[in-house]
Amino acid sequence: MDFLTLFAIYVVVVLTCIVLICKYSGQQQSPFHVLFSYVAKVFGPFTPKWLQRSSQWIMHRLFHQRGNVFIYLHILLESAVYAEFTYEVFGYCREMDTTLTSLSVPYVLLAVKTSFFYLCIKRDPGTVTKKKVAGQLLIYPYDKKLFHPGVSCPTCQLVKPARSKHCRLCNRCVQRFDHHCIWVNNCIGAQNTRYFLLYLFSVCAMAGAIALLTGDMLLHAVLRSGLLRASYIDEYGQQQPTGPLFVVQHLFLTFPRIVFMLGFVVFVFFLLAGYALFHFYLALVNQTSNEWYKSRGYFCQHCHPSATVDHLCGPVPDHSKRYYYSRGLLKNLGEIFFPPQPVRKKDN
Ligand SMILES: *[C@@H]1O[C@H](CO)[C@@H](O)[C@H](O)[C@H]1NC(C)=O
Ligand SMILES: [Zn+2]
Ligand SMILES: [Zn+2]
Repeated sequence: MDFLTLFAIYVVVVLTCIVLICKYSGQQQSPFHVLFSYVAKVFGPFTPKWLQRSSQWIMHRLFHQRGNVFIYLHILLESAVYAEFTYEVFGYCREMDTTLTSLSVPYVLLAVKTSFFYLCIKRDPGTVTKKKVAGQLLIYPYDKKLFHPGVSCPTCQLVKPARSKHCRLCNRCVQRFDHHCIWVNNCIGAQNTRYFLLYLFSVCAMAGAIALLTGDMLLHAVLRSGLLRASYIDEYGQQQPTGPLFVVQHLFLTFPRIVFMLGFVVFVFFLLAGYALFHFYLALVNQTSNEWYKSRGYFCQHCHPSATVDHLCGPVPDHSKRYYYSRGLLKNLGEIFFPPQPVRKKDN
């Protein structure tokens, strides 16, 4: 395969990933949806009805219904990266005297990450149930800005505790609702935010470790080949030193799969590091993403007249107002890692 074809495939895959991961937060007005409605508007008149209908159906199935597609996609991407790492990079690294201890780091992190991933999927995020609702109502007081007392969920027919929200995908109200994560096919709420945070950090660590080991291997390969000191004769017969572009092209041609994998892993690392830091920040200030979006007026009717999710009605939100109550960083983190349990009323 020539350099340009490979590079084109590479760009397409990276762009597809950007699009998919933009949807990561599971929020309604994601850049992906804005893009999709824009594309639909522009190309709508030229596309046949069946194509429009089927793409809408696919979008609906993927993003508005529960399903394991993204869990499988996650496992698939991860297996591809680990297969490449194990079958190619590992061998080269051994030749270059990288210790077995450092080479085992990605595998240890994989085990750690998989357990948090599993807990995110399996743990009940804090569903509001008939039995528990009385206790759940006592956990947080209503702030009367974002959450008002005495509001019932029309679907669940239960009083909404402060900080809870109805998840349309799971069709249940969730205590201290953060968001619905399609990658774990579960809501992130009071009881699993801690696993979600640890999961995000372990994925970053995993991607970072693989990127460092692979980058180190490629660096050694370049140094060993003496390419940096080499020169070539250009079309005018002049001697030219090899520039960085030349080295990149050489690496792409010599180790196409490895470079491809490294690009993907670096991309995932930066994307998820940003996302993990955002969630860590929210945890530190005792706020959920739901509250963050709401208090910034993302779902406000004034900004999105078509918003169908809960929105902050009334005057345009005042962005300077603090919608969260922080009792200090450590206490806030404590609440994430040891979430208050609803006191069960005795069943009679
Ligand atoms: C977090 O904020 C809620 C109100 O949204 C408050 O009731 C709770 O006490 C706060 N927790 C901490 C640890 O500050
Ligand atoms: Zn509900
Ligand atoms: Zn959900």
